[in-house]
Formats: sequence, structure tokens, C-alpha cells
Amino acid sequence: MKQLLPFVVGAALIIGACQSSSDDQAAAPEPSQTPSPAPKAEPAPEPAPAATGFAAVQPILLKNCVLCHTGPDAKEKIDLNTYASVMKGGEHGAIVVPGDPEGSMIVKVIRGAQGAKKMPPAPNDPLTEPEIQLIVDWIKEGAKES
Ligand code: HEC
Repeated sequence: MKQLLPFVVGAALIIGACQSSSDDQAAAPEPSQTPSPAPKAEPAPEPAPAATGFAAVQPILLKNCVLCHTGPDAKEKIDLNTYASVMKGGEHGAIVVPGDPEGSMIVKVIRGAQGAKKMPPAPNDPLTEPEIQLIVDWIKEGAKES
């Protein structure tokens, strides 16, 4: 009995080795099947378009603009208090053109570009570059409410 043991163990090792190598082969097609559900993982990069909604822009307008642009005395009848009022524009029409930051009056004035009045007017601090960029991105992404 004791003499058989090495043989049994040896055979078991050989069988075990064969099984594990045939397991490897059998398993081989599986990894190629595993990546195929990858399309499921693709929606992950999508949060990007939702990055800039009006909620991100509103605090900038509330801090720098509503001082002069809300209520019955709003300059140019431009009310920058809410999404609806911003999209409505002023007495000279829309100030936001969804998808077209360069064509939007609000961008021209915060940049002080094309002879437009710089907003907010001195001595108020101008918007910072990141604030301007955020408004540009918001309009570029369609000027969505959220
Ligand atoms: C201190 C008051 C004040 C603040 C603060 C202010 N504005 Fe104005 N805004 C004005 C006045 C006054 C006008 C009228 C235009 C002019 O000066 O000829 C105006 C005009 C505008 C116009 C119309 C420009 C045109 O030529 O049609 C836009 C757009 C505008 N403002 C956006 C903003 C934005 C955006 C902010 C904040 C970043 C802001 N304003 C902050 C006073 C202000």
C-alpha cells in the first residue's frame, strides 16, 4: 500500500497537470467572450455632456450681474436671475444663442469683445477666465437648463 502511494500521487499530479492545461485551453475562448460585453461599459464616458447645466452658470450671474439685471429696473430689460429669464433675453433680443457662444451677446459682453460694453462694468471685477470658459462651455453644449 505504502509502495503504491508515490505512484498514485505521481499519477494524480500528471492528471492534474493535464487537466489544468486542458482547462487553460478550454478557458482560452472565454476571455475573448468576456470583453464582448464591453459595449455595456461604454455609456460610462457619457456623463461629459451633462457637465455644464445652468446650475453651474447661475451662481456666476447671481454674484456678478443681477445687481443691475433683475427686477423692473433691469438694465436693457435683461434679467439674469433665472434660466427662463436669461433665455428670454432683453429689449434687443436674445443674449444666448444655444450652441453658438461666439454669436451670443452674453459672451461678447463678458469678454468685452467687438466693441460691446464690458460686463460687469468697471469698477466691478471682471469675470475670471474659468468663469467665462464655463459660460462658453454651457452655451456650446446647448445652453441646457440642466
Ligand atoms: C453695475 C451694473 C451692471 C452690472 C453689474 C452688469 N451690467 Fe450688464 N448692463 C448694464 C448696463 C447699464 C447696460 C446697458 C448697456 C450700456 O451700458 O450701454 C448693460 C447691458 C448688458 C447687456 C446688453 C449689451 C448690449 O449691447 O446689448 C448684456 C448682455 C449684459 N449687460 C450682460 C451682463 C452680464 C452677463 C453681467 C454679469 C457678468 C452684467 N451685465 C453685469 C449694467 C450692468
